Amino acid sequence: MRCILLLLLLAALAASPARAGEPVLTITMGGTTAQVSRSELLARRDAATVSVPHDSAYGRPMTYRAVPLRALLAERPPSAADTIAARAMDGFVSHLPRSLIDGAAVPWVAIEEPAHPWPNLPGQSVSAGPFYLIWQHPERGHVSSEQWPYALAGFAEAATPAQRWPGLAVDALEPADAPARRGQAVFAVNCLPCHRLAGSGEGVAGPDLLQPMPAVTYFTAAGLRALIRNPAAVRTWPAQRMPGFAADVVSDTDLDAVIAYLRAQATRSAASGAASHPTEPANGKNLSDQTTR
Ligand code: HEC
Repeated sequence: MRCILLLLLLAALAASPARAGEPVLTITMGGTTAQVSRSELLARRDAATVSVPHDSAYGRPMTYRAVPLRALLAERPPSAADTIAARAMDGFVSHLPRSLIDGAAVPWVAIEEPAHPWPNLPGQSVSAGPFYLIWQHPERGHVSSEQWPYALAGFAEAATPAQRWPGLAVDALEPADAPARRGQAVFAVNCLPCHRLAGSGEGVAGPDLLQPMPAVTYFTAAGLRALIRNPAAVRTWPAQRMPGFAADVVSDTDLDAVIAYLRAQATRSAASGAASHPTEPANGKNLSDQTTR
């Protein structure tokens, strides 16, 4: 009897090699969810050493052990979704279009090896690990700085932000060439990972920019422009987290467009005034199934 118990115990241990306490990456595709541990990722045959000359999070050249994201996704059941949501542990969520993942820039999941820990991120007391999405040839896909999510928890098939949150759309009456329309796209890539708009979105790393009071009500256009370029130029404190956006990531035209968008959405939400419930936690559900560690 004892012998059988021992055998069962050994079998259980063998089935989960060194998994206890190990970081895992969660991948949801085709309606199923799988978890891959750090050691499983490092042991893959397609794990490689990848160097990036302009690392987005570290702001300098970096070299990593990494596995190709495309292969990781291709091994899962197929998904018809146009977007893959990359979720980080701090509530940052980047919606990556499939066309970007399968395009000319090449995405890799970098893995922090226990024996070779990565340095702390600039100005922070943590590294980009245990998992970090990096890109080779990011310029070929116009990959934005916010499409390099670090402290990754996992990837999940998702509808595009515009499909998931109709509230993000600009008023249908805005002309086709209205800057606010361009601003909506700029916002979805660069701001939505951290900021929601009246509850639309799932990023919680930064404040909602429309509720309870729209940011454009208490920031001037010049103040907003300065803040987006370099938040510390507007005000500064030790725990400040928002990254600045250089002109090669968000051009001057895009900067004006995103401000036009914030203004248009504030006008829209004011117009729908009594119909909305600004004090209600509009995104309560998303907050609760948020992955935080
Ligand atoms: C990585 C997360 C992140 C991204 C991406 C980000 N922000 Fe922020 N943002 C923050 C955080 C966090 C704050 C709160 C202040 C701080 O800690 O820096 C903030 C503050 C702000 C504020 C000031 C709000 C207030 O009431 O003081 C504005 C306006 C703003 N962000 C706009 C933007 C815009 C526009 C973009 C896109 C171009 C953007 N942010 C992208 C994280 C982010």
